Amino acid sequence: MRYLSGIQPSGLVHLGNYFGAMKRHVERQDGNECFYFIADYHALTTVRDADVLRRNVLDVALDYLAIGLDPAKAVFFRQSDVPQVVELTWVLSTITSMGLLERCHSYKDKIAKNIEASHGLFSYPVLMAADILLYDSHKVPVGQDQKQHLEVTRDIAMRFNHLYGETLVVPEAEIEESTAIVPGTDGQKMSKSYGNTIEIFAPESKVTKTIKAIPTDSRGVDEPKDPETSTIVKLYALVASPEEREEMADRFRKGGYGYGDAKKELARRVLEYFAPYRQAREELAKDIPRVRDILEDGARRAGAVASKTLERVYEKVGLR
Ligand code: ADP
Ligand code: TRP
Repeated sequence: MRYLSGIQPSGLVHLGNYFGAMKRHVERQDGNECFYFIADYHALTTVRDADVLRRNVLDVALDYLAIGLDPAKAVFFRQSDVPQVVELTWVLSTITSMGLLERCHSYKDKIAKNIEASHGLFSYPVLMAADILLYDSHKVPVGQDQKQHLEVTRDIAMRFNHLYGETLVVPEAEIEESTAIVPGTDGQKMSKSYGNTIEIFAPESKVTKTIKAIPTDSRGVDEPKDPETSTIVKLYALVASPEEREEMADRFRKGGYGYGDAKKELARRVLEYFAPYRQAREELAKDIPRVRDILEDGARRAGAVASKTLERVYEKVGLR
């Protein structure tokens, strides 16, 4: 089974990215073939500063390696180091209907947030389809927000196969129910663009401060509280055991346990959970040339697969 996924280098990695995607990428490393990449071509749709983009790429590379991505097991690379993906994007874009792209929520959401309505932003799902199809991927582990992009990818692959004969592997999204939508501090989906994130490698004091600022209702310490609707409990469930989650939920129901206490406990567990990764990241950051070597090696391995798929496609469409 071949797994593939990508993450944009567009800002600091948060709990949603980690539990919704990156943690699961690392878990799939054993017993599967895995391709993971840093989607810097995609990030060009929103990041306009070259130095920021370069910095972000290194940051995501460090984040992934720190949480346990093992380059000996998974092929780990930077998207733009395998430019064949842009060639495949063009071929796929010639068979992608406008209607398919016009239906995509993500484009509409992004322009609603004042991101420039560029052609690149509109055709973003075609580049994403090329990412996936170029590597004959079977499974794509992502959060719920990427589901529609996977449907677009499947549509494009099936249309290509229908027009030119069986060529491309039709992939499937792999979305895990319990972490499909990690809530942000305001209870909406956690997202860089909503300013409601808890960044996994932010300074410890900032993590604690962000958690302390989670809005709550006005119920006092003694009053019973509803654990099922509480963002604090939802986030706690990610970093604590099921029994511990139940204990906190019980305390909420009984009363005599304030939101402040719950936040303190949540902050403690979040920091404890990421402490070993934080340390690993500090070590890795001391040897950036090694990180670059890892990405270059990944690009060589990914490039070998990419060239074969692209040849197959060029042959089918008549470019060879
Ligand atoms: P953001 O919304 O912060 O810009 P990205 O779009 O860069 O995040 O997402 C990178 C990966 O993390 C994707 O696979 C996405 O599905 C996942 N992801 C992002 N936010 C969440 C969330 N709140 N819950 C679950 N998964 C998420
Ligand atoms: N669009 C994804 C996101 O914003 C990132 C991405 C780009 C991706 N190409 C991909 C994810 C291919 C999975 C597979 O999170």
